[in-house]
Amino acid sequence: MARIIFQPNNLTHDVEDGARLIEVCDELDVSLSFGCTEGTCGVCELTVVRGMENLSRLTEEEKDYLLEEDLENGMRLGCQIKVRKGEVVLTWKGNRAK
Ligand code: FES
Repeated sequence: MARIIFQPNNLTHDVEDGARLIEVCDELDVSLSFGCTEGTCGVCELTVVRGMENLSRLTEEEKDYLLEEDLENGMRLGCQIKVRKGEVVLTWKGNRAK
């Protein structure tokens, strides 16, 4: 089991190892938005507060879309990531996680 914690209100959700974030968000009705779902629009941009090592590797789409500076700041594209194991803490602009 892996665990996702959505900041700022610490909504915590346990998921199967390898769960796709986009599917988890669908079920939970959190405020993270998705657009293209293919890593090209950037709508799903988020920041990994903790647990980057527990996420799937950067996809080619993320490497193309995100700037070096974004990567250094822990940004990822939500539609591209899977939670491999352990705990991850996520936040994003305008976060109103329910
Ligand atoms: S939904 Fe478009 S980049 Fe993730």
